Amino acid sequence: MTWCRWWRRWGSVRLSPADEPELREHLPGVPLLNHLEVLPARQSRGIGTRIIAAAERTVYDLAYHRLALGVGVDNPRARKLYERLGYVDWGHGTVDTRYDIHRDDGRVDTFRETIAVLVKNL
Ligand SMILES: CC(C)(COP(=O)(O)OP(=O)(O)OC[C@H]1O[C@@H](n2cnc3c(N)ncnc32)[C@H](O)[C@@H]1OP(=O)(O)O)[C@@H](O)C(=O)NCCC(=O)NCCS
Repeated sequence: MTWCRWWRRWGSVRLSPADEPELREHLPGVPLLNHLEVLPARQSRGIGTRIIAAAERTVYDLAYHRLALGVGVDNPRARKLYERLGYVDWGHGTVDTRYDIHRDDGRVDTFRETIAVLVKNL
């Protein structure tokens, strides 16, 4: 479910089982907030925080009581934001991921990333 598209940047919440076996094993049935991104010129103005709050409200209204997200191990600034908003490490180590971003012009970029997984009880 792609639920938000502000400033031509977006995030999505995935309700279906994750691609990564570790996430399916340890967080079955927990929605995942994916690919949160705010246009660089608009960052640090509270937009990311509002997008996360909207995601939390959306999944809570759908009767989910936890929300998880992955953050690159090389992205301490984003992790700091999530921890400030109440997300905590899931305690099962990092996960190697691979994902495709479908660009507006039709290009598909494939990324590989090692992530920490954070979870919040809503
Ligand atoms: C992380 C991100 C979505 C936060 O959105 P935002 O609108 O800037 O966030 P807010 O204004 O609500 O909160 C600001 C906090 O976000 C974090 N942040 C801001 N810019 C950031 C950046 N370029 N990269 C990572 N984190 C950033 C910081 O913790 C910041 O707090 P600070 O200003 O006290 O340092 C946004 O900065 C971004 O798109 N970053 C680049 C892509 C990215 O790292 N996405 C996260 C994938 S898990």
